[in-house]
Amino acid sequence: MDTAQSLDNRDAEAGRTPATQDKDHRPAMQDTPYPEHTVGHPFLDDPKMRLRDVNVFYADNQAIHNVSLDIGKNEVIALIGPSGCGKSTFLRSLNRMNDTIDICRVNGELFLERQDLYDSKMDVVELRARVGMVFQKPNPFPKSIYDNVAYGPRLHGLADKKYDLDEMVETSLRKAGLWDEVKDRLHAPGTGLSGGQQQRLCIARTIAVSPEVVLMDEPCSALDPIATAKIEELIAELTESYTIAIVTHSMQQAARVSHRTAYFHLGRLIEVNDTDTVFTKPEHALTEAYITGRFG
Ligand SMILES: Nc1ncnc2c1ncn2[C@@H]1O[C@H](COP(=O)(O)OP(=O)(O)OP(=O)(O)O)[C@@H](O)[C@H]1O
Ligand SMILES: [Mg+2]
Repeated sequence: MDTAQSLDNRDAEAGRTPATQDKDHRPAMQDTPYPEHTVGHPFLDDPKMRLRDVNVFYADNQAIHNVSLDIGKNEVIALIGPSGCGKSTFLRSLNRMNDTIDICRVNGELFLERQDLYDSKMDVVELRARVGMVFQKPNPFPKSIYDNVAYGPRLHGLADKKYDLDEMVETSLRKAGLWDEVKDRLHAPGTGLSGGQQQRLCIARTIAVSPEVVLMDEPCSALDPIATAKIEELIAELTESYTIAIVTHSMQQAARVSHRTAYFHLGRLIEVNDTDTVFTKPEHALTEAYITGRFG
């Protein structure tokens, strides 16, 4: 994408990685007030996920403040912002992974189409199949490649026969761009693969249960550029079938893979716009400060 290219060039010229150095020695942006409401276009018609006034607390510490956002069908939305601004916390609230943290509380309206994610009748195991998650560090189960991918379909009773299961495993590995590399060693341990292959195995495991939404929390941060490029290609292909929300520290990556970008700052959602606008004509001063590297 053009924006990704120009970000690459700008960073190369400045001899820096994005958002880490104050090249122009301009004043710190920390005193810039938050907007009363998120600027840009946080809302959509007929979204896949509808999130309103979401607050997340760890004991008495509020990590997410009144975030309202729609996530569209078949879109890739990038969540960006400085370390500690709440990207992972917000992402985890979208499939109730925060339930696994004792001191964490979530309130607000969080809907997957018409279903309330936090309804007491919601089956959380089923929810996590519909809204799958890929983590920063590849985390294959200590099982064979085949059993990693077959795990979800077995758990959810999606395959009646061995033949069906074989087909699901192959299809998922193909979609994850891993089939050719592993088809002759399906019964070898998943942990024996390279980091990039393990991450694609985790993606295959996630998509094997046909999720509607895939959440990715910095899925490439432990990978080299070649493995990263493969995952980015894969994201572009997956968006034909799924909705993807990806947290990334790399603005080039956000520009390359996403349609919309959401900028978080100290637990607030400052700005949401189409990705090109965020990187070329950000509306809010805090967004601009981040993308021009005045804080990171
Ligand atoms: N398990 C936890 N217990 C208590 N506080 C937490 C926990 N996880 C996150 N926090 C706090 O919530 C805030 C947001 O953290 P979060 O990990 O969501 O940020 P982030 O934007 O993902 O940061 P990074 O880019 O470094 O991954 C931080 O103040 C953090 O200390
Ligand atoms: Mg994080």
